[in-house]
Amino acid sequence: MRIYAPMPGNETMAQRLAARTAAELGAIETRRFPDGEAYVRIASDVKGKEFNIVCTLAHPDAQFLSLIFAAETARELGATHVNLVAPYLAYMRQDKSFKQGEAISSAHFARLISQSFDSLVTVDPHLHRRRDLSEIFSIPARVEHAALLLADWIRTNVASPLVIGPDVESEQWVAAVAERAGGAPYVVSAKTRLGDRNVKVEVPDLSPWRDRRPVLIDDIVSSGRTMIETARELAARGMAKPLCLAVHALFADQAYTELGALAEQIISTDAIPHPSNAVSVVDLIEPRQH
Ligand code: R5P
Repeated sequence: MRIYAPMPGNETMAQRLAARTAAELGAIETRRFPDGEAYVRIASDVKGKEFNIVCTLAHPDAQFLSLIFAAETARELGATHVNLVAPYLAYMRQDKSFKQGEAISSAHFARLISQSFDSLVTVDPHLHRRRDLSEIFSIPARVEHAALLLADWIRTNVASPLVIGPDVESEQWVAAVAERAGGAPYVVSAKTRLGDRNVKVEVPDLSPWRDRRPVLIDDIVSSGRTMIETARELAARGMAKPLCLAVHALFADQAYTELGALAEQIISTDAIPHPSNAVSVVDLIEPRQH
């Protein structure tokens, strides 16, 4: 028997997963004690069952201890397996010590997750210098990709797209998205990150595609600067307002409002619950036969 139990904010995803797989919908109660410490209670009978905790990790610091307490408690209560369903996996971007003494938080975070869970499933983790999650996770970690879902959305909704990727590293998956989106043309920008909220984006010559609808795609929108700067550049060149598509809609601070003023529409997957969600990753993350 399998249970999907949501951490707060993940109710819809857990309900969809439970419904699709005829699994039980579990419950985890959480609250704060007056001093701010976390209270956690597993409100489901987990003994002898596979317990899947659904927790996208868009704001990991606020939830992480409660998540670990839930996993440890489920194991103590006799769950056969305790798995993490994290459609967005946090802390993957700091994968190198750039300055003396900097934490390589992707490795540390992976170690902490691996200590409390038996397996992990996630969507498009931001692996930059690492090839595979197995380099940092000691538990089985299944990765699914949402790029083709975005491509299908483009094919269905955009008449004459020009797909634009954020940087040269994205070229391979941008090409695959463009191909699946009906053989659309694509270009990639050249991006230089100058700081957490400061990027320089150089968009190539777009004059052959002046009549097409620009479609910006990226795996993550975080500060939003990459898409905002690209959209500004498109406006300066007299292109139509872009459609902006992302797998993970983090949208820190005012990024969603700022990008909204420059974009025709913003679309994301439900890997992170957000008003821009229009594509579901539920099919991707439901369990495979094992
Ligand atoms: C970078 O490699 C990623 O693909 C995204 O372009 C980046 O994480 C977006 O970040 P931001 O929204 O802060 O520009």
